Parts: sequence; C-alpha cells; structure tokens
Amino acid sequence: MDIGIVAFDNACHREQVVALWERVFAYKTARNAPGLVIDKKLAVHDDLFFVAVDGDKVVGSILAGYDGHRGWIYSLAVSPKRRHRGAGSQLLRFAESRLASLGCVKINLQITDGNELVEEFYVAHGYSTEPRISMGKTITSNIG
Ligand SMILES: CC(C)(COP(=O)(O)OP(=O)(O)OC[C@H]1O[C@@H](n2cnc3c(N)ncnc32)[C@H](O)[C@@H]1OP(=O)(O)O)[C@@H](O)C(=O)NCCC(=O)NCCS
Repeated sequence: MDIGIVAFDNACHREQVVALWERVFAYKTARNAPGLVIDKKLAVHDDLFFVAVDGDKVVGSILAGYDGHRGWIYSLAVSPKRRHRGAGSQLLRFAESRLASLGCVKINLQITDGNELVEEFYVAHGYSTEPRISMGKTITSNIG
C-alpha cells in the first residue's frame, strides 16, 4: 500500500477521521466524541496529530502527546479494509520519531479492556506491559 503520513489538516481530514474513529472506537462517552477530541487537540497546537493517507483518502490516524516528561500515544487506528499492510506500524514509527525529536525519553500508551489482543502489535514495536493501576478523572465542565 502506497500511503503517506501527514499532519492532520482540519479542512481536509476532519470528516474522514471522525468517520474512522466512530467506526473503529465507537466510544460512547461524551469526552471521547471525535469532534471534541479533534478540537481539543488542535487547541494545544503541538503538531502531534497525524493521519495516514492514500491520495486524499484517510486510512489511519494517530495522536501523540508530550508533556515534557512522557510521550503518549492515543487513537491509533487503521481502516479495517487497510489493515495488515503496515499502515499501523508506519503511523506508530512516525509518531515515535516526532516524540523522540522533542527529547522524550519514554512513551506510554493504554490498551482498553477487551482490546488486549493488540498488545502483541505494540510488543512487536518494542513496548512492554507494565504493572500499573491506571486512573482517570473526567472534568465534566470542559465537555460542551
Ligand atoms: C492496531 C492497528 C492500528 C494495526 O494496524 P495495521 O495497519 O493492521 O498494522 P500493521 O499492518 O503495521 O501490523 C499488523 C500486525 O500487528 C499485529 N496486530 C495488529 N492488530 C492486532 C490485533 N488486534 N491483534 C493482534 N495482533 C495485531 C499483528 O502481528 C499484525 O500482523 P499480521 O498483519 O501479520 O496479522 C489496527 O489493527 C487497528 O486500527 N485496530 C483497531 C484500533 C486499535 O485497537 N488501536 C490501538 C488502540 S491501543
């Protein structure tokens, strides 16, 4: 598959990324609504949101984050029809190289319950599973 990895462009990619995430993640929680996630990410202007494209078609996505301590990977997704041809690996490597260029010393990610099989993909990319209790708190006043 001849794909490229490019920076997310709201005008060109938004609709397709929303459709991809609705299909792949189907999150039910308001804080994960694709439009909200995209708007919040663009608002921080960190240039760590990338899409895999085949021509003008979005076939995958990845969000990265860096807070000066750890890098994070979120929302790695490839269209079901385009999987198993290296797009996921390309997206991950691209985001990793951007995080590395920012000085990041460690990248973290979370796998949600029920998606444990994807652990194998990350292990193949050098990640290891760490014993942690993952906690979170929603700030409801920031969800429109
Ligand atoms: C994970 C994902 C991005 C991989 O994309 P991809 O383009 O198929 O990845 P690649 O072609 O680079 O690598 C595929 C390899 O990764 C591993 N792999 C990928 N997804 C896997 C899964 N769900 N279970 C087990 N192994 C998986 C396999 O070894 C696979 O090898 P194969 O093609 O020989 O079967 C894609 O499966 C996806 O979008 N999944 C749904 C969303 C998701 O789970 N994202 C991760 C959130 S933490």
